[in-house]
Amino acid sequence: MREPDVRRKPSGSGTPDRAVPQSLNGLREAEPIRIPSGIGETDRVLGGGLVPGSVVLVGGEPGIGKSTLLLQVAAGLAGRAGSVLYATGEESAGQVRLRAGRLRLLDGPAGDRISVVAESEVGRIVDLARATRPIALIVDSIQTATVEDLEGPAGSVGQVRECALRLMELAKQDSIAVIVVGHVTKDGSLAGPKTLEHLVDAVLSLEGDRSATLRLLRATKNRFGSTEELGVFEMAEQGLTEVTDPSRAFLAGADQHAPGSVAGATLEGSRPLLVAVLGKRAGIGLGSHDVYANLAGGLQLEDPGLDLPLCLALASSLRDTEVSRDLVAIGEVGLLGELRPVPGLERRLREAARLGFTKGIVPVSRKGSAPSVDGLEVLEASNLRDAIGHALGPVAGRAARGGPRDST
Ligand code: TYD
Ligand code: MG
Repeated sequence: MREPDVRRKPSGSGTPDRAVPQSLNGLREAEPIRIPSGIGETDRVLGGGLVPGSVVLVGGEPGIGKSTLLLQVAAGLAGRAGSVLYATGEESAGQVRLRAGRLRLLDGPAGDRISVVAESEVGRIVDLARATRPIALIVDSIQTATVEDLEGPAGSVGQVRECALRLMELAKQDSIAVIVVGHVTKDGSLAGPKTLEHLVDAVLSLEGDRSATLRLLRATKNRFGSTEELGVFEMAEQGLTEVTDPSRAFLAGADQHAPGSVAGATLEGSRPLLVAVLGKRAGIGLGSHDVYANLAGGLQLEDPGLDLPLCLALASSLRDTEVSRDLVAIGEVGLLGELRPVPGLERRLREAARLGFTKGIVPVSRKGSAPSVDGLEVLEASNLRDAIGHALGPVAGRAARGGPRDST
């Protein structure tokens, strides 16, 4: 079995079709069918729902909430589309039932339509799936799965790969959507072979700070959708709940009154998010102090647009002066202290205005005019000195020494 293509073979006997080339015009369009789980945040990240015959890998650190998410997805599918088989090598069937009880799933259709089996041998899991014909099979986890006739312990490269291949074969031949759990090691890579990532149709990653409640679901690969989408959840007493207004949630984690705290507006794919950046205690002159910066909510972002809120947070901390809580800052800061525009400025500002921010500090527009957003006063700055001036009052001789020198 080579490159999987669920569109070519919706179901069948197992003997591969002989491929015959056809002109593009002669081909039928293949818009995949999708089965929504009904959990909006998950469905959006998947690209609209699970595709029958596809294999999705869900990665994340141990304890982050993968099994919880997938049991909730299973319940959503069971309530809408049919039965789901949940095979676990991680826990006993009784433990899965306990979780289902905690998630209040037992009274709904999930109680009857989700079958649980504590089984890790993939041959038997595949047989069970062929016999019971669920719409989706969940395998928790690939690290505990084994193939009987293969040497090597569970979790070894050979086992992981062979298990994945057999599950893919089942998916394609029987048009079952297969979701496989994979644990991620501390350095962020999927434990076991990386090869898994290119075998499967989609790789979702569940992230967050285990000591906090926010959880982010992203697609790092998706043959059936965008990898730009972000799902936001909160881990609550009864499982993961969708966070429909993530900006508010990310700001809630920060004390907006204190010096050293500044709101920034970032973009995750197409989604604007407001976050709080906290710079801590730099005394006077950054060079002689340890500097701590923190993004509230346990988020990890790589957005140059957060440079400016970070610098302002440090300046605010340094001066022990609060930045107005109505102010949001967006912009990349160059080595000379110059501010550079970032993509999606207007979208970020609109999100800020929606949340009640009334002032935005942004880099001077290259187009000649600042974006205009209802309810928001947009202050342009060409360099850090000007931006600090807008946020904290003019930079006077001494106070400016600690920061990067600007280009003016
Ligand atoms: P789990 O789904 O078991 O994580 P994973 O499969 O990724 O290892 O969830 C782990 C944590 O989530 C566990 O420490 C308890 C917590 N949790 C809740 O806070 N609320 C809940 O409703 C459930 C089911 C779990
Ligand atoms: Mg688990």
